[in-house]
Amino acid sequence: MSPTDALFAAALAVQARAHAPYSRFRVGAALRDETGAIHAGCNVENAAYPVGTCAEAGAIAAMVAAGGRRIAAILVLGDGEALVTPCGACRQRIREFAAPGTTIQVAGPEGLRRSFTLEELLPASFGPDNLGPAA
Ligand code: THU
Repeated sequence: MSPTDALFAAALAVQARAHAPYSRFRVGAALRDETGAIHAGCNVENAAYPVGTCAEAGAIAAMVAAGGRRIAAILVLGDGEALVTPCGACRQRIREFAAPGTTIQVAGPEGLRRSFTLEELLPASFGPDNLGPAA
């Protein structure tokens, strides 16, 4: 299985586990970390609407909890005609762990739809480097 196929399969599988009773819009995200390990997450909505979390946030949390520290590539998958690109907050979440050239792939259930770089989706971004060396 190709690297993209593996991310797609992980995102498709986790999309089915989304908790999206309010929007009924299920999203799956899968990323590859610097070791090659894949981490996945789905959106988890809440009756108190703003408390819900995006699929990307779940995948990043899973990566960090597993010891991963860098996003090598990430794929986001959702239904419908429109491209399910990461929301603004999730672009910034990805930025924390990815380089400007990192690939963000957008997929539908039928397969890959489009590929972006992080720089394309979040130009002139603010990131860890802006704060100087980490403590
Ligand atoms: N959502 C994600 O999980 N990721 C995205 O990239 C776009 C939107 C979720 C949030 C909410 O649960 C639902 O999709 C509708 O906005």
